[in-house]
Amino acid sequence: MSEDIQPISLDQFDPHRRAFLQNALKVLGGVLMLELGAAGVMFLRSRSLEGEFGGIITAGPISGFTPGTVTEYEDGNFFLICTADNGFMAIYRRCPHLGCTVDWIGEKNKFFCPCHSASFDNNGEYQTSIVSRSLDTFPIVFEDGMVKVNTAVPQNREHHTPEHISYPA
Ligand code: FES
Repeated sequence: MSEDIQPISLDQFDPHRRAFLQNALKVLGGVLMLELGAAGVMFLRSRSLEGEFGGIITAGPISGFTPGTVTEYEDGNFFLICTADNGFMAIYRRCPHLGCTVDWIGEKNKFFCPCHSASFDNNGEYQTSIVSRSLDTFPIVFEDGMVKVNTAVPQNREHHTPEHISYPA
């Protein structure tokens, strides 16, 4: 004796299963959107135009920086500060305590080391006693209208002074 297999119509389809599939598609769509968003953020991050860490890195045209801003160069391992009076200072991202990578906290206008909570003001001057000197800087040169940072030569400094800021001629 054989049993007939009857096809089911869409109306007979288990509504719980349909809801599950709809939710699964929504979750997959959400994950895809997050990944596309993350890829977009990575693409839009500041990148050096030329050079790599350990050498001279072209950060960008002098006129391309807004006064009072800090730009991170992750691949160059530095932050480029464009001061309110159009000066430039390149800050090494390496914490002078034990070498962790410091972050720029824009809303607090300071640098922060997540390892042992050292903080530094917007010039890299230390604010906490766990470190005994300010963030190192890299020499800057201005050439053909471009800002160039020499990452081969980190410069130690105990405190920030105005002489650490470079100005285009
Ligand atoms: S390594 Fe930065 S505070 Fe310790």
